[in-house]
Amino acid sequence: VNKIAILTSGGDSPGMNAALRAVVRTGLYFGLEVYGIMRGYSGMMEDDIFQMDSRSVANIIQRGGTILKSARCKEFYTAEGRAKAYANLKKRDIDGLVVIGGDGSFTGAMKLQAEFGIPVIGLPGTIDKDLYGTDFTIGFDTAVNTAVEAIDKIRDTADAHDRLFIVEVMGRHAGYIALHSGIATGAETILIPEASTNMDDVIASLSEKEKRKKLVNIIVVAEGDAFGGANEVAKVIKERLPKFDTKVSILGHIQRGGSPTCSDRLIASRMGYHAIEALLAGKSNVMVGIINNEMSYTPLEIAIREKDIIDEDWLRIVKILAS
Ligand code: F6P
Repeated sequence: VNKIAILTSGGDSPGMNAALRAVVRTGLYFGLEVYGIMRGYSGMMEDDIFQMDSRSVANIIQRGGTILKSARCKEFYTAEGRAKAYANLKKRDIDGLVVIGGDGSFTGAMKLQAEFGIPVIGLPGTIDKDLYGTDFTIGFDTAVNTAVEAIDKIRDTADAHDRLFIVEVMGRHAGYIALHSGIATGAETILIPEASTNMDDVIASLSEKEKRKKLVNIIVVAEGDAFGGANEVAKVIKERLPKFDTKVSILGHIQRGGSPTCSDRLIASRMGYHAIEALLAGKSNVMVGIINNEMSYTPLEIAIREKDIIDEDWLRIVKILAS
């Protein structure tokens, strides 16, 4: 490998810039030419590619978003789109690609690798923590901390007015943001797609609390929960427990932004460094992750397909601590 390109794709996540910085500087350290691709696969197709040096990534480790910008690109799903994109790498003799993103971004990388033989390495950049083969994804810790800060504030109002708040957090089809932020804020109930949501249980638990005059409650709902988001949950509660002063708060994209936490900067830096080491060692088609504080390399296909199992213990902890 002599010339590599890097892109960020899919939903942005805090720490993508830190990862980018690590990849660029490690690549340069090992004598590689490094190219940045703007707006993910869109920029690859539109030939929006530029050579990067050490200064290109100065002063970005602390910044949210991504200086390379990101996009979700439909045309790249077609073989013609990918051929057009690859031609732009080929004409520069780029012979390695690092993709920072989530499952959609990895699928694109796998296809490029299969069709044109270019080695690709994935870095898990998503707030959702929905990739297999890593304990943490870049951006998850920041997103969870943002959610915790927001829910703490919501609890002040819940407490002042004796209200029940239903807070919806992001995560797409995964419940990790809800699980972690819910436990950390002392939520009464956490509703996630990985566990079945039984509204009768939720109602029974709230009624029992009402009898004890415990009216301050926070329910954290993952946007991907099978029962539906916060609005659906609120509808049922308002109907069946009209005595509760029920409010909905959907946190939304606030969870995607902001300066990455120390933990996200650290994993981004380590993963970025190891992306280059992996390419130089001849690895391809793998996602660099960290499991039990050790670097790990999981085939992209498995990283996307397999699911981590949420430990039943965690849900038990929620129940016991919220009494
Ligand atoms: O994957 C990150 C994420 O923020 C998900 O949690 C959410 O479902 C989705 O992206 C939202 O996508 P968009 O920003 O395109 O609306």
